[in-house]
Amino acid sequence: MREQLDNLLQEAGAALQAAVDLEQVAAWRLAYLGRKGRVTNAIKAVSTLSPEERPAYGQRVNEVKQELEAAYLAWVEALKQAERERSLVADQVDVTLPGRPVRPGRLHPITRTLRDIYRIFAEMGFQVYRSLDVETDDFNFGLLNIPPDHPARDMWATFYTMTPGVILRTHTSPGQIRAMRQYYPEPIRVVLPGTCYRYEQITARADIMFNQVEGLAVGQAITMADLKGTIADFARRMFGEGRRVRFRASYFPFTEPSAEVDMDCNLCAGRGCRVCKNTGWVEIMGAGMVHPVVLRNGGYDPAVYTGFACGMGVERIAMLKFGIEDIRYFWGNDLRFLEQFS
Ligand code: PHE
Repeated sequence: MREQLDNLLQEAGAALQAAVDLEQVAAWRLAYLGRKGRVTNAIKAVSTLSPEERPAYGQRVNEVKQELEAAYLAWVEALKQAERERSLVADQVDVTLPGRPVRPGRLHPITRTLRDIYRIFAEMGFQVYRSLDVETDDFNFGLLNIPPDHPARDMWATFYTMTPGVILRTHTSPGQIRAMRQYYPEPIRVVLPGTCYRYEQITARADIMFNQVEGLAVGQAITMADLKGTIADFARRMFGEGRRVRFRASYFPFTEPSAEVDMDCNLCAGRGCRVCKNTGWVEIMGAGMVHPVVLRNGGYDPAVYTGFACGMGVERIAMLKFGIEDIRYFWGNDLRFLEQFS
């Protein structure tokens, strides 16, 4: 009897050592200590013994059971500990490995150019005024002195929406009306930046989506000299001391007089190159004195107030500044292009 229990103890002990993971240990537990396990059966066997045999056997079988239960708990703990150690080694971080290089982002050349423009105009007292990308026909044209069917509309090939009278702005000039209506009767000095949209053939010089910055000054004694001084100052701060500008008579319905502004080519210093087509001059913006009708539409009495406005293409300014010959690079999202601006 006693021998049998010793054998059971030994056998169970060896089987436990052979269980190398928690699943096998669970199976072992069932086989020996479970409800139909061998140790349990050995305990039940007490009832088959004679009363004389029972105390010794009972005591021993209980010892066996307790020993195996303790061994079981210790073994489970040992396996868990071994697993923890294994994972500590496997998941170890090698702090001596060199780091992976982080590639820094950078500002888009148009963002940089916009910020340069804002800074220069801010130094001259202009605030940034943000207007709408989606405009009404009235703000984009009518209130700017371009009635329906006016031939000047051909200057701006327009994207229309499904909603009658609602379009994508073709220029930032409608912001003039919005700024005037908001600021009246205060004097105004603002720059109006934003994306403009034109339904045109995409070429090296023209895209269907591009940025403009509009400048607008309204007050009681603003003259064309202020316009020329402001633009000449802008050109020098943007493109370098000594830059010269010239005004060519032009036509815009919302300014009178109107001008196109040229600057001596900053890439060849006026000697002549591909960008200026050997003329030595590059066009940088349209400008003029705010038309009396536009002042009135903005709420300002043209008998009391005058103003000047100018509008430049930001991509064009950036092309001149960085010597880029094709506007399509800007929104082509080619990293080889974008990474050149850091
Ligand atoms: N809005 C004009 C254009 O897009 C530019 C301009 C702005 C001209 C302000 C004069 C005054 O062509």
